[in-house]
Amino acid sequence: RQNERESLLIVLNFAKTFFRETLQTTDEGKSIGLSYFRERGFTNPTIDAFELGYTLDKWDSLLQEGLRRGYSRDLLEKAGLVLNKENATGGDNKVFDRFRGRVMFPIHNVSGRVIAFGARILKVDKTQPKYLNSPETVVYHKSQVLYGIFQAKQAIRLEDVCYLTEGYTDVISLHQAGIKNVVASSGTSLTTEQIRLIARFTPNVTILYDGDAAGIKAALRGLDMVLEEGLNLRLLLLPDGEDPDSYVHKVGADAFKEYVRNQAKDFIDFKAARWLTEAGDDPLKRAEGISDVCASITKIPDPLKRQTLSQRVAQVFHVSEQTVISEINRLLRKQQ
Ligand code: UTP
Ligand code: MN
Ligand code: MN
Ligand code: MN
Ligand code: MN
Repeated sequence: RQNERESLLIVLNFAKTFFRETLQTTDEGKSIGLSYFRERGFTNPTIDAFELGYTLDKWDSLLQEGLRRGYSRDLLEKAGLVLNKENATGGDNKVFDRFRGRVMFPIHNVSGRVIAFGARILKVDKTQPKYLNSPETVVYHKSQVLYGIFQAKQAIRLEDVCYLTEGYTDVISLHQAGIKNVVASSGTSLTTEQIRLIARFTPNVTILYDGDAAGIKAALRGLDMVLEEGLNLRLLLLPDGEDPDSYVHKVGADAFKEYVRNQAKDFIDFKAARWLTEAGDDPLKRAEGISDVCASITKIPDPLKRQTLSQRVAQVFHVSEQTVISEINRLLRKQQ
């Protein structure tokens, strides 16, 4: 078992190196992959820090090089790098590279070893997914991984807060802008294991999600999960149509930091602002809002924190603290 893990890590490291060389030294890599990263504003130190690469638009470049180096088909397949289509029709090439003609984002574990890849097509169309990701393997359990944690962990400790984003390029662009305490849940909806991984470095999380409907939905779901793990939470949705990557390129590092400092709200203000806008003078809507915020408070394991936050809810909604406390208690009883 231990042996298999180590073999997979070795072949994944080989693939990473091969993809980096393909990006840096082949004509196709330079003219397509490197140009793509340049257009996105990624500098050489950034490309190196995240070990970004490129895969040729060819069926078997990694497979052939891997075999030449003595890695078995079976190992390449177990690492999620090649696909084996047993019943493929037409042509005798049943084994082929999973990632072709894409820019490559290695996914590192906490100690910096490559455990998987995210791979982006250069031009988005409807025929293929924008990002193709490694499948689950012996070394890659995507629910347990946060993209960028290796590059971010020191900064997370130092700043004592972790910025949680949606995507690979959000992590990379913020890192390049000098905001290094950033990770991404990368497409999977946030999991408890991912939150516990953050908690190893800091008790403070700030969610910075895309300003679209999907981002709002993901933030509301992530909110309760982060509270459940006993972490402190702030949230910020980027302006509609922006994500941290596009926004930091648009306004620059200083303005981005300023924006987060001024606009990130604690979960009570985040939820209340949405409810109060919607409710206006409608008392029933306000009641619904109070109950919704109280529901999130019931997720917090520490009774003392629940108590002090009840005071905040009361202030924000202009009701008595007793009203809030009895609603929380009612919800807690219901959950038992
Ligand atoms: P987004 O659609 O917000 O992509 O998905 P992005 O990160 O802004 O990517 P760019 O800027 O267009 O390159 C957020 C994350 O969801 C995952 C990826 O991890 C992506 O970074 N995702 C998205 C997938 O795994 N597959 C997809 O097809 C799309
Ligand atoms: Mn395992
Ligand atoms: Mn998005
Ligand atoms: Mn983006
Ligand atoms: Mn995005």
